[in-house]
Amino acid sequence: MAQVAISKVAKAFGTVKVLHEVSVDIADGQFVVLVGPSGCGKSTLLRMVAGLETVSGGTIAIGDRVVNHLPPAKRDIAMVFQNYALYPHKTVEQNMAFALKLRKTDPAVVAERVKRAADILDLNPYLKRYPRQLSGGQRQRVAMGRAIVRNPQVFLFDEPLSNLDAKLRVQMRTEIKELHQRLKTTTIYVTHDQIEAMTMADKIVVMRDGRIEQVGAPLELFDRPANLFVAGFIGSPSMNLLKGIVRKGGVDVAGTLFPIPANSAVEEGRSVVYGVRPEHLEIHPDGVAAKISVVEPTGSETLVFLRFGDGEMVALFRERHDFKPGDTLTLKPRLDQIHLFDAETGQRL
Ligand SMILES: Nc1ncnc2c1ncn2[C@@H]1O[C@H](COP(=O)(O)OP(=O)(O)O)[C@@H](O)[C@H]1O
Ligand SMILES: [Mg+2]
Repeated sequence: MAQVAISKVAKAFGTVKVLHEVSVDIADGQFVVLVGPSGCGKSTLLRMVAGLETVSGGTIAIGDRVVNHLPPAKRDIAMVFQNYALYPHKTVEQNMAFALKLRKTDPAVVAERVKRAADILDLNPYLKRYPRQLSGGQRQRVAMGRAIVRNPQVFLFDEPLSNLDAKLRVQMRTEIKELHQRLKTTTIYVTHDQIEAMTMADKIVVMRDGRIEQVGAPLELFDRPANLFVAGFIGSPSMNLLKGIVRKGGVDVAGTLFPIPANSAVEEGRSVVYGVRPEHLEIHPDGVAAKISVVEPTGSETLVFLRFGDGEMVALFRERHDFKPGDTLTLKPRLDQIHLFDAETGQRL
C-alpha cells in the first residue's frame, strides 16, 4: 500500500487547459472520491495517476516515487473502468489471471490469487463462464477481481457503477466499500454521483472546471459547504439557495424575512444567498408562510414544493402529513442549520 501525492498538477490538451494546478494528498489506505459534473477533469486526473495521460505540470508521487515519467505497468496500480474492458474470448478465470500470466508469475501463485479474489467477490460459480454469459454486476465484479489479483499499491476506479441499474448500483457500492474495509488498499474513485461520493469516501474532493472547490470528509462538506457550488452539489434533495439582502433579524428574500441567528456577524444591507436544506425546515407558527404547489411522497419521506411571493423552496418531511396543493404552511428554518454565502463571490460567510 502507499500514499499518493498530487501536487499542483496541470493538464492541457493542446492550448486547452483542463486541469489548473490541482493538489490532493491521499493517505495510505484512504478511500478518496473525486466528484464533480461531467467534463470537470476527474477522468483526466485519474488517468494521469495511472500513467495513461502525460502530465503538463506539477508532480504525482505514489509511495515515495515521483511517477510522472513512469509507464503504467511500473506504477503498481490497478484500474477498473466503467465499461469493464474484459476480454470476451477469455473465461472469468482467464480474465482474472491474464495480467499475472503476462508478468510470468508462478502458476501456483496465479491460481492462489485468482482463488482468493473469486472467494472475496463470490465469483466461484462463474469461473468457467465467458463475460457474455454474465450479468452487468457480475462483469463488474470480474473487473474488480482482475484488479485485486494484481495486489496493487493503489486501486483506481473510474465510474465503475455507471452502467448498472439503480438497485445494483446501491448493492455494488456497499460491496466496494466492504472490499476496501477488508483490503485497506489506497483507493481513488471517480464519480459524478454525489450520493456515491458521500456514502463511500473517507475524503471527498469536489471538482469543477478543472479546479478543486473543496476537500473534506463527507459530513464536513454537507454541514459546512465552503461555497455555493458545493452547497448545491452535495445533498439530495439540494439545499434551497435563496437570494436576498441582510436586514435586522434576517434575510429579506423577495419581501419575505428568513430568520438568521441573533449573533450573526453579517452586516445589514449585504447581498447574500440564504441556504437551508429541505429537511431543516420545520412547521412552526412563527414560520415563513408558503403555499404548497406540488407534493411528492416517496414512502419513507415526502417532498413538498412551495411558493412564497416570488420565491420557491422545497421542504422534506419524514413524518406523514395530509398535505394538498394550495394549502399554506408556515415553515421555520432551523437556526443552527442555516448557511449564508456572499452573493458575488459565492463564498461561505
Ligand atoms: N484526449 C483529449 N483531447 C482533448 N480534450 C480532452 C481529451 N480528454 C478529455 N478532454 C477534455 O478535458 C475535459 C475533462 O474531461 P474528463 O477528464 O473526461 O472529465 P470528467 O471525467 O470529469 O467527465 C473535458 O472538457 C474534455 O472534453
Ligand atoms: Mg470521466
